[in-house]
Amino acid sequence: MTAVTTRTAGPALHSAAPAVDASAPDAPAAADAAASLASADAATRLDLPPLRLGPITVDTPVILAPMAGITNKAFRRLCREYGGGLYVSEMVTSRALVERSPESLRIISHDEDESVRSVQLYGVDPATVGAAVRILVEEDRADHIDLNFGCPVPKVTRRGGGAALPWKLDLFTGIVQTAVREASKGGIPLTIKMRKGIDEDHLTFLEAGRIARDSGVAAVALHGRTASQYYSGKADWSAIAELRNALPDIPVLGNGDIWSAEDAVRMVRETGVDGVVIGRGCQGRPWLFGDLMNAFEGSAERHQPGLGQVAETVYRHAELLVDAFGSEMMGLRDIRKHMAWYFKGYVVGGELRAKLATVPTLEVLRGLLAELDAESPYPGADAEGPRGRAGSPKKTSLPENWLQSRRLNEAQQADISAAELDVSGG
Ligand SMILES: Cc1cc2nc3c(=O)[nH]c(=O)nc-3n(C[C@H](O)[C@H](O)[C@H](O)COP(=O)(O)O)c2cc1C
Repeated sequence: MTAVTTRTAGPALHSAAPAVDASAPDAPAAADAAASLASADAATRLDLPPLRLGPITVDTPVILAPMAGITNKAFRRLCREYGGGLYVSEMVTSRALVERSPESLRIISHDEDESVRSVQLYGVDPATVGAAVRILVEEDRADHIDLNFGCPVPKVTRRGGGAALPWKLDLFTGIVQTAVREASKGGIPLTIKMRKGIDEDHLTFLEAGRIARDSGVAAVALHGRTASQYYSGKADWSAIAELRNALPDIPVLGNGDIWSAEDAVRMVRETGVDGVVIGRGCQGRPWLFGDLMNAFEGSAERHQPGLGQVAETVYRHAELLVDAFGSEMMGLRDIRKHMAWYFKGYVVGGELRAKLATVPTLEVLRGLLAELDAESPYPGADAEGPRGRAGSPKKTSLPENWLQSRRLNEAQQADISAAELDVSGG
């Protein structure tokens, strides 16, 4: 594969997005969008070298976190239009890919202009993960592969997968080594994404990071929570700094609780990471990628869209989803979950919100969006801060006797290939 770079050309505003009503005299134009950029505190400026993942250069070292049900190609396109970075697909289970389920093929599909086709695999069995990587490499379906070792969902950890897996050093090593070997045959960089561990008494990230480094991964990403924290509390950035110090020879990427460009800058400064991974912070805010690029390039400009521009983006997102799913019904079903995120903090009546959350067609969507006050300005802090999944801590479900040893026993070994189930979410 030849070297590719992920930088987008020029400032990405809303120029490609259709107006809700293009004939309206106040339809926002690119110039208005530019005017909506606001000055931010210049003290947040940052310069960070491009992130290198094997042959891939990510000029703005910012990564859209894989999010099941969110980071499909429609949402990735929307984010890409605002800034540079690497945009990872929703996770796909290795087993489903090996069996070529239509859903798995949809998940790994990319737009033709996605210069880096990034795929995240979930798996618990080295042979199946290896076979999935082989498919991606031999059929030229990816330029970057990430492995998911961070999923805290009980259905996954109960079978030894996701964040439970690095506890078993032999299994973790087997999966990472096999995946790196298969990926390297096509010159494809392989990375891993993990949590701190199962709980505070069973941390795995330092050992897992060293094993991954010794196995030849191109980078490791750490979400600063344990599985039992789920999405509660605060991400522990000091663990990210610890990993950064423990692995001076490969890129370390930090993840957790970045809600703004300023947070991203702060994470880089506080932890020394080579790049940041952002999940929930961009739900309903694809323009965050523009802010991040601005911050990392030393510009103080930030996107502060008024309600009219948010409405345009929602409509465009819906259109892209309809296109990606090849079905208006599925596209509209998918956009509904984004509504509360897009309109967080904006003045939108309860009745209209309810209608938007059950919108059935593009035509109805257009009509509902036209009811919004397009002149309503950016609401400031109310539109910012935490969003998306939260919840409370819970004891992690694990296979029987999982914590007794760092190696698989015979019964666990036998169960592991059966654990290659069809799961989603992380
Ligand atoms: C809806 C949702 C789906 C997710 N799906 C995945 C996934 O498929 N793979 C994965 O590694 N992490 C997944 N995650 C975890 C995120 O990638 C990220 O690690 C986590 O949200 C913390 O980052 P944040 O604070 O920036 O959101 C998911 C998170 C959410 C909220």
